[in-house]
Amino acid sequence: MKRIQSEETINKIEKEVKLCGWVNSRRNMGKIVFVDLRDRSGLVQIVFVPQELDQKSQKAVKEIRPEFVIEVEGVVHLRPKNQINKDLMSGKIEILAKKLSILNQAKTPPFEIDNETLKANEELRLKYRYLDLRHERMKNNILMRSKMMHFIRNYLHEKNFVEIHTPILSKSTPEGARDYLVPSRRFPGKFFALPQSPQQYKQMLMIAGMEKYFQIAPCFRDEDARADRSPGEFYQIDIEMSFIKQEYILQLTEEMFTKMIKKLWPEKKMTFNQWPRLDWQEVMDKYGTDKPDLRKNKTDKNELSFVFIVDFPLFVSQANNKDSQDHFHGVKSKWAPSHHMFTAPKEKDIPLLDTEPGKVRSYQHDLVLNGIEIGGGSIRIHDPKLQEKIFDLIGFTEKDKKKFAYLLRAFEYGAPPHGGIAPGFDRLLAILQGEKNIREVIAFPLTADAKDLMMGAPSEVSKEQLQELGISIRKNEIF
Ligand code: AMO
Repeated sequence: MKRIQSEETINKIEKEVKLCGWVNSRRNMGKIVFVDLRDRSGLVQIVFVPQELDQKSQKAVKEIRPEFVIEVEGVVHLRPKNQINKDLMSGKIEILAKKLSILNQAKTPPFEIDNETLKANEELRLKYRYLDLRHERMKNNILMRSKMMHFIRNYLHEKNFVEIHTPILSKSTPEGARDYLVPSRRFPGKFFALPQSPQQYKQMLMIAGMEKYFQIAPCFRDEDARADRSPGEFYQIDIEMSFIKQEYILQLTEEMFTKMIKKLWPEKKMTFNQWPRLDWQEVMDKYGTDKPDLRKNKTDKNELSFVFIVDFPLFVSQANNKDSQDHFHGVKSKWAPSHHMFTAPKEKDIPLLDTEPGKVRSYQHDLVLNGIEIGGGSIRIHDPKLQEKIFDLIGFTEKDKKKFAYLLRAFEYGAPPHGGIAPGFDRLLAILQGEKNIREVIAFPLTADAKDLMMGAPSEVSKEQLQELGISIRKNEIF
């Protein structure tokens, strides 16, 4: 007999079925034993009555404990009316077991799986993440993650986008955070950097003529964790297009997310059916922040207020911006890009680059949801001379510029006008799932201090490995 999922049992009344899964709970009622069997699709009640079972199965019923892995064969019956459980998808039926096999035993888990795991110690949850993910809420977060990924890929494929994997072993990029570095064995003393975003690759793909690119892209940033920020890796819905205006990027993002939310989160409602495009200066004057939360009712967990912020200044003054100093790996200058250095200035403001750079407006757009920035992007510079001018304004020396020579060279070979956006996948999903911390929507996240407690990473490596890489560790400096 083919094994089916518990959610399918409702269509098999009075039929024989085979189910596999975990013992979620077990209740003894005299000689009769009730077990809630859990599989990915949910829970189903199994009734074990001794006279219905062979000897081996009767023995197995006595042995099973929570989280044992079992296989059950039995007949699906409708429950008597007074025993219907409305909380269960399969609450109208139960399985009268004919045969039980134990596929594997299980130790008692370090925290209860049928309880709200948010109350358990998070370090324990992360160390035993495979148990934590068995919990209904966590499982649902991961299933919704998969559905969201599927929707976005389908949507963008239908719009004629090409999905392209860009390298993970890459070069140090100026995205704003510290890099994760990977030493090269073949070239001792040299390092790859894991990409903070595929920004430069996606621009190269436009020069290559791909026209419409997307990737649900892994990004790596060594930065301090916050509730909405991973201290290691996270995913962006990375999009880039050629021959488009800024408004088209905004429309595409708006339509994609509106359709996705309608389909996957139908209970949600939007504050604005047409997402406002707000001028940065006006927003700053009115709300004192460029991430305004414009929900009508902030206590309504289903209200979503999406807004785009546009017309950002191209530069921020380095003097009063601590973040921007990190941006440039110590490069000293009066100006730093307000987002990144590939963002195009508005054409009419280009003359101001020579006179009042602080007044230049850019083609940057941020997407803000309920007061949280969930995405950013821009129309990019595609003229090598203009790009070089921006490098000068942000204080790049000839040596700094050399590091980006490959980019300026690429721009000399017919770069099309282009632009894009990159909403944070984890951040958006966490808000849609009503989770306060993005770790709740990531299968195997790092802790806030960037450790993998389950695998024990980061970890020391062997002397031989270090030797091959030409690396020696100064033990007395490790603390
Ligand atoms: P930016 O740096 O603004 O833009 O990142 C875009 C979005 O990525 C998400 N994000 C994060 N999510 C979780 N943990 C983090 N540490 C983290 N850092 C960023 C946020 C953010 O809005 N290349 C540009 C995009 C572009 O110009 O197209 C970029 O990376 O949701």
